[in-house]
Amino acid sequence: MGKPSFLVFLLLLHCFMGSLAWTDTNISTDKYALLALKSYITSDPYDFLANWSVSSSPCNWIGIKCDTRHRRVHSLNLGGMELKGSISPQLRNLSILVELDLSDNNFYGQIPEDLVRLRNLKVFNLSYNDFHDEQVPTWIGNLSSLVQLNLRNNGLYGFIPLSLFNLLLLEILDCSHNFIEGTIPLQVGRLEQLMILRLAHNKLSGNIPQTISNLSSLELLSLSFNSLSGGIPNEIGHLSQLKTLYLGANQLAGSIPSSIFNNSMF
Ligand SMILES: *[C@@H]1O[C@H](CO)[C@@H](O)[C@H](O)[C@H]1NC(C)=O
Ligand SMILES: *[C@@H]1O[C@H](CO)[C@@H](O)[C@H](O)[C@H]1NC(C)=O
Ligand SMILES: *[C@@H]1O[C@H](CO)[C@@H](O)[C@H](O)[C@H]1NC(C)=O
Ligand SMILES: *[C@@H]1O[C@H](CO)[C@@H](O)[C@H](O)[C@H]1NC(C)=O
Ligand SMILES: *[C@@H]1O[C@H](CO)[C@@H](O)[C@H](O)[C@H]1NC(C)=O
Ligand SMILES: *[C@@H]1O[C@H](CO)[C@@H](O)[C@H](O)[C@H]1NC(C)=O
Ligand SMILES: *[C@@H]1O[C@H](CO)[C@@H](O)[C@H](O)[C@H]1NC(C)=O
Repeated sequence: MGKPSFLVFLLLLHCFMGSLAWTDTNISTDKYALLALKSYITSDPYDFLANWSVSSSPCNWIGIKCDTRHRRVHSLNLGGMELKGSISPQLRNLSILVELDLSDNNFYGQIPEDLVRLRNLKVFNLSYNDFHDEQVPTWIGNLSSLVQLNLRNNGLYGFIPLSLFNLLLLEILDCSHNFIEGTIPLQVGRLEQLMILRLAHNKLSGNIPQTISNLSSLELLSLSFNSLSGGIPNEIGHLSQLKTLYLGANQLAGSIPSSIFNNSMF
């Protein structure tokens, strides 16, 4: 075999292995992953998950939507069900999952790193839960399909991981109402699709980075109730889509840049 044909062979082998990995999982994989999640839920006061049982298809279960083409679980939305428990690492087996919304419950413990396997995830909503024993996980930055990330109201601590700024498709980033400290990284300017950025009610300090001027789609910026200092960057006035700006309850100084009055907010 010559060099080029050997390369083609390797490429074909790679594709073959890839498709094997794909067919390796099916709707029963999804069913058992979801039943594993159910077994991690210790309290379900309204019996929402009563019909999550081995004898029916998960596509008919409450909170589940399936993809008609792949016939796999596409969306898992258990928002506001007053569930209590931890997140089963088996959820990683929902290999085509696009939406994961466990918001407004009492989930606690670790956000399992296994979820890094959810390559197709676009919506990740863990807001209003009880993940207070950990930092914003660095591995979330590997979920490169993410469009909406909401970790609001949990009690997460530590710094904003720089990996989050690899999520170049993000349109919504909400980490407000936690105990996040440190500065707002300059790299925030990479998230050019961002429309909503909420970091209010944390312990952030330092200046508002001028790179925020790169966020040309930004409609809402909320940084209030932190310990931000320095001036309000003139660049904020150049964000032509900005409609809502909350900067109150910080230690900002200086004057309000006149560019702000040029904005579509008014
Ligand atoms: C799913 O795949 C397993 C093997 O990995 C197979 O035994 C099972 O019959 C498949 N189930 C469905 C519903 O296709
Ligand atoms: C999840 O997938 C792994 C292999 O990737 C398998 O060993 C495990 O049994 C699966 N878990 C469930 C609940 O299907
Ligand atoms: C489970 O409950 C939901 C909501 O009550 C219902 O729409 C669905 O048909 C039920 N599924 C099964 C398999 O019983
Ligand atoms: C996430 O969940 C919260 C609370 O249920 C909800 O208000 C919000 O719209 C959801 N989606 C996003 C992207 O934040
Ligand atoms: C995330 O991606 C980086 C860079 O590709 C890699 O080194 C790291 O192992 C990944 N993390 C996880 C938890 O998969
Ligand atoms: C701002 O956007 C440009 C492209 O428009 C990009 O090259 C640059 O890296 C961004 N700046 C920052 C700080 O991310
Ligand atoms: C306001 O907008 C006009 C027209 O776009 C521009 O010429 C002017 O320099 C802007 N003023 C400030 C303070 O940015």
